[in-house]
Amino acid sequence: MVSTSKEPARIAGMFDSIARRYDTLNHLLSVGLDRRWRARAVRELALTGTEDVLDMCTGTADLAVEAVTTAAGQARDVVGVDFAGEMLRLGLIKIRKAGLADRVHLVRGDATQIPLPDNRFDAAMVAFGIRNVLDPAQSAREFARVLKPGGRLAVLEFGFPRIPGIKAAYRWYFKTLLPRVGRLISKHGDAYSYLPASVEQFPSPEAFATLLTDHGFASVRTVSLTLGIVYLYVATMPGQK
Ligand SMILES: C[S@@+](CC[C@H](N)C(=O)[O-])C[C@H]1O[C@@H](n2cnc3c(N)ncnc32)[C@H](O)[C@@H]1O
Repeated sequence: MVSTSKEPARIAGMFDSIARRYDTLNHLLSVGLDRRWRARAVRELALTGTEDVLDMCTGTADLAVEAVTTAAGQARDVVGVDFAGEMLRLGLIKIRKAGLADRVHLVRGDATQIPLPDNRFDAAMVAFGIRNVLDPAQSAREFARVLKPGGRLAVLEFGFPRIPGIKAAYRWYFKTLLPRVGRLISKHGDAYSYLPASVEQFPSPEAFATLLTDHGFASVRTVSLTLGIVYLYVATMPGQK
């Protein structure tokens, strides 16, 4: 049985070890859908080119880059925060290669103690990060703290399809095939077994939406993407922009 401990040093170490193969495996194992999921999350923020946006658990900065390059409505600036140094290092290379260093900034830090001031951001986003956080409720408090009144939050996280038949087939893929391919390519013993195990442990979509409401967010909306393989949570901080 793979450990699902969310102890920060363990999680950061695990992502640091798989960092070099992380993007390749993301695109391969999701058959390219990960790009669409991130694009959808950014669209939900309804950006107009004037917003400062937080990308928590930014990893190699794919979501941060999407937010300043999409044709659908961009952020003015993005600050990506993550505690895995190697993920950030590769993210920074990507940002510099794309000529985006003036608009995307990376900071090392923990989602339960975001090293940035109150009311700093017009919007915040997290893609496939929150399930790894030791205390997601504390993280929700931190998102509420760094967002301005009226600021929007978009969270992407894996789920499990609920449609019979599809549910069984996806479970087989996610729990049997994906860990094998992940291990083969990443050379990491259990990172890709931890993935389905941590998704299984994550609160249901209804429970996570309630967690956001309980920690100060309003108008919480849950959107099922790709038959429930991924859920997108969209919420707003009460108050006027
Ligand atoms: C699955 S990756 C997602 C990366 C990126 N958001 C993406 O869409 O590809 C999860 C990232 O969350 C980071 N992470 C997990 N828990 C964290 C925490 N408590 N504080 C900061 N970063 C965290 C990991 O280091 C890792 O880079």
